[in-house]
Amino acid sequence: MTEIKKRIEMLREKLHRHNYLYYVKDDPEISDAEYDRMLKELFDLEARYPQFASPDSPTNRVGAPPPPGGFETLRRAEPMLSLGNAFNDEDLFEFDKRVRRQIGTKEHITYIAEPKLDGAAVELVYENGGLSVGTTRGDGVTGEIITDNLKTVRTVPLRLVGKPPYPPLLEVRGEVVMSKQGFEKLNAERLKKGEPLFANPRNAAAGSLRQLDSRITASRPLDFIAYGVGRVPGDWGLETQHEVLETLASLGFVVTPDVRWGLDIQGAVDYYRILEKKRSRFPYEIDGMVVKVDSLAVQRALGATSRAPRWAIAYKFAASSETSRILAIDVQVGRTGALTPVAVLEPVNIGGVTVSRATLHNEDEIRRKDIRIGDTVLVQRAGDVIPEVVKVIESKRTGNETIFRMPDRCPVCAGPVVRLAGEAVARCVNAACPAQVKERIKHFASKGAFDIDGLGDKLVEQLVEKNMVGSYADIFTLTAGELETLERMGGKSAQNLVTAIEKSKNIDFARFLYALGIPHVGEFVARILAASFPDIRNLADAAVNDSGRLEAIEGIGPVVSGSIKGFFANPENMEVIKSLLEHGVTIRYTSKQKQRNDSPVAGKSFVLTGTLSGMPRARVRELIENAGGKVTGSVSSKTDYVVAGENPGSKLERARALGIPVIDENGLLELLGEKTANK
Ligand code: IVH
Repeated sequence: MTEIKKRIEMLREKLHRHNYLYYVKDDPEISDAEYDRMLKELFDLEARYPQFASPDSPTNRVGAPPPPGGFETLRRAEPMLSLGNAFNDEDLFEFDKRVRRQIGTKEHITYIAEPKLDGAAVELVYENGGLSVGTTRGDGVTGEIITDNLKTVRTVPLRLVGKPPYPPLLEVRGEVVMSKQGFEKLNAERLKKGEPLFANPRNAAAGSLRQLDSRITASRPLDFIAYGVGRVPGDWGLETQHEVLETLASLGFVVTPDVRWGLDIQGAVDYYRILEKKRSRFPYEIDGMVVKVDSLAVQRALGATSRAPRWAIAYKFAASSETSRILAIDVQVGRTGALTPVAVLEPVNIGGVTVSRATLHNEDEIRRKDIRIGDTVLVQRAGDVIPEVVKVIESKRTGNETIFRMPDRCPVCAGPVVRLAGEAVARCVNAACPAQVKERIKHFASKGAFDIDGLGDKLVEQLVEKNMVGSYADIFTLTAGELETLERMGGKSAQNLVTAIEKSKNIDFARFLYALGIPHVGEFVARILAASFPDIRNLADAAVNDSGRLEAIEGIGPVVSGSIKGFFANPENMEVIKSLLEHGVTIRYTSKQKQRNDSPVAGKSFVLTGTLSGMPRARVRELIENAGGKVTGSVSSKTDYVVAGENPGSKLERARALGIPVIDENGLLELLGEKTANK
């Protein structure tokens, strides 16, 4: 019997250690299979000898059936407080002044700054090194007991690691978080199963923790990150918060990453700027920075109000989402006739910017999120992207909301609206629709296209409304006299605009292609096309008669080539091009492009493998690219040549298998026409 008990204890100890190495240290020593074998043996032994069961056994991580009466609660001796907020640098300097005033010092205070993790706050109580109770923050004083759930979180130590003696009682506080990646994956699975989606990783973490059935919690990708301690009776011998974090790490916890200590208040402000920039690169959501007085003695001297400690403050990042109400849903007509529903919102300030419109993408999206006119919604604005409606706050529904229907007539020209099978967007199919004309002209004059200085959106709208411009070519007939009749247009600016229009007529091939507004041809594809064809005639000819040539180009798939073909096959579009040329537009086929296009390397795709002796790889790549070719990393049916040096790898085998020509360096130089020049 004692043999069995010993074996069980040995297995537990090993499993705790390997769990720690795997999940906390990210540095496993044994294979997953070996770990699973040990775990299975332990499971079997515990089942056969229930007298040796233990609450902190690693077998408890898989979850347990729900507690019959819901969660029990626990009143804690030391409440989990919340934090005061700083909204700007000034507030942080004020906080520092208060701290110094209370301590009675003019000296610098030393701070530690930590990322503020956006998850659910919990407390773990360890008695004699073993996890005894885990609770939610609750109202701070009373929390819910969710020990079984917390045990399923792999980064929650069931026993402290390292050598005893441990403090006989240790309350560890921290945040249960879900990584952004784990959140995306979980939502993708839920979407497939038709289950409601979580709005953000914080909700997903909190929701997962409060599952009555801990087997569900066990299936969620949660982590526990420690940021401090509650009670630690007795003298722990620690003097600073950063030592607390270091000690927690040595006991087997993941602690707040990217902390900085030894900062004065200006240092904390500077660090905030850095964290703001790094924010998106964190695997977890962080919603700001917490500044804490580093010295525990000074912390004790400062104490706390009933709500928050006086020694710490949260400096939140500017909010990126707010709630608002949908007053109406407008339908916008884009350049290609696509109808985009747009929510007209009660104006709301999000991170310093007033937002009154947000995109709803398309009709399916509105149905999927069940968005109705009159709904209270969560609106998100991230960086420079267009604000969007994330979700409906269903609890705010009154029953007076109305369902949106896509109009069957264009809201601008009253022309028919068509939604093709398999497409998410509905389109106005009247090419002469003034909304489409405006958007096309705006695009034509924009920076990446004809780049006509002074021809901004407002002006384009006037020109189209006054029937002065209906086609691209009309732009080139405008006179200063005509332009002067427009609002906010003086003689000087009219003349400047005419000059800018004249100057734009000489345009390079890639920009010209982009300006045409062919669906799916953005600046990048336009550049590829310009590098692959000697001129527009040649491109048009290939598109209509030999679309295989288009699809053979790397970066151009069937959808894009279909769109290009459709464009050039339409005689009206050919007329548009002809008319532009007649109005004096000259397409610049740069000599380099010409030269490229004449080269047998132009538009061809190369893969390099093995050691190339004659010259560095970077130089080989440069030569190929200068001649209009491309170098890619892996061999596919679209590869034209594999250049093999010494000790070629599996790429050579793959090339042979696919029947792709393999050449050596000399062969490449021959192709490039550089053989004699280089020898
Ligand atoms: S220290 C006495 N440090 O923010 C309170 N809290 O608004 C000490 N939080 O409920 C809290 N990251 O759950 C601290 N590095 C961090 C934190 C952090 C996130 C949460 C915490 C608390 C909330 C306060």
